[in-house]
Amino acid sequence: MENKTMYTTKEAADYLGVSPSTIYRMEKRGLLSPTKTPGGRRGFSQKDVEEWLRTPQSFESPLIRETPAPYEISAKAEPYFQEDSIQIYSADFLRTNCVKEGTVDLIVTSPPYNVGIKYNSHDDKMSYEHYLSFTREWLTRCYRLVKDDGRFCLNIPLDKNKGGQQSVCADITTIAKQEGWKYHSTIVWNEQNISRRTAWGSWLSASAPFVIAPVEVIVILYKDRWKKISGSRKSDISKEEFMEWTNGVWNFMGESKKRVGHPTPFPVELPRRCIKLFSFVGDTVLDPFLGSGSTLKDA
Ligand SMILES: C[S@@+](CC[C@H](N)C(=O)[O-])C[C@H]1O[C@@H](n2cnc3c(N)ncnc32)[C@H](O)[C@@H]1O
Repeated sequence: MENKTMYTTKEAADYLGVSPSTIYRMEKRGLLSPTKTPGGRRGFSQKDVEEWLRTPQSFESPLIRETPAPYEISAKAEPYFQEDSIQIYSADFLRTNCVKEGTVDLIVTSPPYNVGIKYNSHDDKMSYEHYLSFTREWLTRCYRLVKDDGRFCLNIPLDKNKGGQQSVCADITTIAKQEGWKYHSTIVWNEQNISRRTAWGSWLSASAPFVIAPVEVIVILYKDRWKKISGSRKSDISKEEFMEWTNGVWNFMGESKKRVGHPTPFPVELPRRCIKLFSFVGDTVLDPFLGSGSTLKDA
């Protein structure tokens, strides 16, 4: 970029690799302050813009840390179903206090992916920015619900999102860490479904080939310490399961929507592995995005 002392909004946006609307938001948050040029136009000083480039944080606005607004909590929901140690609540996870803070040993879940699925009430066609701020909200809420040695198995896409590819896994992991979660590892789940492959981009040409990995991931996070000391300390995992599942590439088929009657089920094998590997017998397991109840079936 041409070396100038003042940049217009568009020039500052180009320089930082963000959109002009992100510049406005950064301005609103006091991260960049425009000054008036002699001609009365808004401008950003080269010094300010370059200082931003030197800061270690991301310029992507959805990743700029912002404390989510307090939730408006609806009245305490009664369980929709209850039997023995199982409870199902029919509620918006962001607006309910049916799960007590600091009581959960393990969360296993797969949130909406924002890929345009028709859910009953959830809008799965948000802008990517809005999706990440929704993500920040539930990640914060999940954090409050787990015990100090609580864990989180988060099944998300690697890079699929509405309107094209995005660094979804990297962005969600970054937000989770910003909200207090500690990172342990990432399991790659190979769904073994190559028949989904339809788009090649520029076939046999380097002009714009389309690269897609037919996998999803399960990001393993924890609240405060990885070593688990609470609970029964009893595990019911076999030697073969332990050896196979601690290899972070999991190979098993996805679940059929038709068979389950839900648009985006994961196979019971996924929560089964997570629960047996990461929790003790009798632990409290939560799935805040329960869907058809696959996690519950296994728990
Ligand atoms: C990816 S699906 C989970 C599917 C589930 N793992 C299964 O095997 O059926 C996400 C689910 O979260 C639900 N959902 C979306 N927003 C929610 C919210 N705010 N509170 C609770 N559930 C929500 C959707 O309706 C959908 O059923």
